[in-house]
Parts: sequence; C-alpha cells; structure tokens
Amino acid sequence: MKNCKKGAILVGLVGAVIGIVAFGIFNSVVHWAGSTQFCGTFCHSMDYVYAAYHQGQHAATPSGYTAGCSDCHLKYGSHHSINGFQYVGMLVHKAQSGSKSFFGQVAGHLNTFDKQKELAPELSKEVHEWMKSTGFANCRACHDLNKMKNAKNPDVATFHKVFANDMKADCLECHKTAGHDYKGINTQADADLLIAGKSLPTAASSEAAASEAASSEAAASEAAASSSAAAK
Ligand code: HEC
Ligand code: HEC
Ligand code: HEC
Repeated sequence: MKNCKKGAILVGLVGAVIGIVAFGIFNSVVHWAGSTQFCGTFCHSMDYVYAAYHQGQHAATPSGYTAGCSDCHLKYGSHHSINGFQYVGMLVHKAQSGSKSFFGQVAGHLNTFDKQKELAPELSKEVHEWMKSTGFANCRACHDLNKMKNAKNPDVATFHKVFANDMKADCLECHKTAGHDYKGINTQADADLLIAGKSLPTAASSEAAASEAASSEAAASEAAASSSAAAK
C-alpha cells in the first residue's frame, strides 16, 4: 500500500517534469517561429514586406528598443504576461497567420516579389481591419498613451491622452509607416538592399537621375525635330 502511494507520487512527478520540459520545448519552437528573422526570411515570401519593415518606424529606434513581427502581428504578442487562455488564443492566431503565408508560398501566390507587391494592399487592409478590431491592443501594450511625454512638443502627449480611452482611435490613420514603409521599393533588388541593412538610393539622387534622363530625352527629341526639319 505504502509502495503503491510512493509509486503514484513518482509517476506524478515524472509526468510533471516531462510536462514542463515538453512545454518548454514547445514554447521555444513557438518563440523561434515567431522571431523577426524567421517571419521575415523563412519562406522568402516576405521580401517585400520585410524590406518595408526596415524602412518603418520600429526596425531601428532612438533608444534601440525595437518591435519585431510578432509584437505587432500576434494576438497578445506585445503583452508582457499572458494567461493560459490568451496563450491558446495567440497560438490559434499564429497558426492562422502562419498557414496563410505558408499556403501562399506553396500555392504560388506569394513566391515572387511581384506577386507579394501585388497582394500587399489587400493583406495590408486585412491587417488594418484586425488591428482595428482589437482597438490596437498590441500598440497600446507598448505605448501607454497616458504616460506619453514630449518635451519639445507637449501637444502630442495631450491629444494622445484623448486616444488613451478611445478604443476606436485609428493609429494607422496618422501613423501609416508605423510597421512598414513601402516607399521606393519597386524591385527585388531594392528589397535585397534594405534587407542587407543598406538604404535605397536617396530621393535626391534618383530625382537627379530622372531629370538627367528627361534632359537626354529632350535632347533626343530636339535632335529628331531638327533631323525631320532637315528632311523637309
Ligand atoms: C510596429 C508594428 C509592426 C511590426 C513590428 C511589423 N508589422 Fe507588419 N504590419 C503592421 C501594420 C500596421 C500593417 C498594415 C499596414 C501596412 O501594410 O503597413 C502590417 C502589414 C503587414 C503585412 C500585410 C501587408 C503586406 O505587405 O503583405 C504582412 C505580411 C506583414 N505586415 C508582415 C510583417 C513581418 C514579416 C514583420 C517582421 C519582419 C512585420 N510585419 C513587422 C505592423 C507591424
Ligand atoms: C514591442 C513594443 C512596441 C510595439 C508593439 C509598438 N511600438 Fe511603437 N515604438 C516602440 C518603441 C520602443 C519606439 C521608439 C521609442 C524610442 O526609442 O524613442 C516606438 C516608436 C513609435 C513611434 C514614433 C516613431 C518615430 O520615428 O518618431 C510611433 C508613431 C509608434 N511607435 C507607433 C506605434 C503603433 C501605431 C504601433 C502599433 C501598430 C506600435 N507603435 C507598436 C515600441 C513598440
Ligand atoms: C490624429 C492623428 C493621430 C492619431 C489617430 C494617433 N496619433 Fe500618434 N502621433 C500623431 C502625431 C502628429 C505625432 C507627432 C509626430 C510623429 O511622431 O509622427 C504622434 C506621435 C506618436 C508617438 C511618438 C511620440 C512622440 O512624442 O513623438 C507615438 C508612440 C504615437 N504617436 C502612438 C500612437 C498610437 C499607439 C495611436 C493609436 C492609439 C496614435 N498614436 C494615434 C498623430 C496621431
């Protein structure tokens, strides 16, 4: 009888240890699969949006405290402590968003830069709708709008205090580039440059190139005009 009780306790203990280890492994796989590197590069189905993340407002910040993919895209991704129910909700959301891009890769929807670029507006809208439905909870988990302080421009803190209690406030209406800035990313080469940590050629230099092209075009049409005049 005594032995039997001991045995039961032992089995319980071993079970608990296995459970804890298994949860730990499971958890780190979830964590790994949610890392910015994984999300941005694993399937190559994200080059466009990953490049745009590099130009967004969170890939690099004045303080060096950044936000990664899952901080913004996963339910409760930026919440510091979550309960079991929320964890399950997060996994379900991860499974859904993960399988979408996986499916896209497999089905050939997102496997080229041009397809990603073409589908981006639609996916952006979906993400935007989801964020609205949560009242931008992920943003708010990092940004406590009641605690904003901007010494140079105190008005900024003042009007965000109004949004602190207004769950309908649409952060993206004013902060379009919070997550991603797609400006100037037109080719796979542009994306590669940004993903490698470089920046795109400046607007000024591409403008210069454009005006150079324009002036040579003008010269060409002038030449054409004079040659047709000569033909007459
Ligand atoms: C600071 C929050 C934030 C971070 C960090 C962030 N995103 Fe986003 N993401 C957004 C927002 C907001 C949108 C919708 C508006 C837009 O497209 O910019 C979006 C849109 C998207 C879309 C759909 C649009 C498209 O171009 O396909 C994908 C996919 C995406 N993000 C993936 C990622 C990945 C991968 C990372 C990490 C490398 C990441 N996001 C990091 C906020 C974020
Ligand atoms: C993981 C935490 C985290 C999440 C999630 C997050 N942010 Fe941020 N955000 C930061 C940090 C850190 C900074 C930079 C602060 C600094 O270093 O000065 C920042 C900066 C900003 C800035 C100022 C950028 C600039 O260049 O002046 C805006 C605007 C902003 N966030 C809006 C948002 C919005 C909108 C969302 C949701 C889509 C969001 N953030 C999600 C942590 C986060
Ligand atoms: C009506 C426009 C508007 C809305 C809506 C809005 N913001 Fe802002 N926000 C601004 C402006 C303007 C600034 C100051 C300039 C800048 O950083 O873009 C700012 C600045 C910030 C900053 C940087 C702090 C600073 O002192 O510069 C953060 C963080 C931020 N907003 C977060 C949010 C979040 C989170 C939401 C959604 C709950 C939100 N904002 C909604 C207009 C808005």
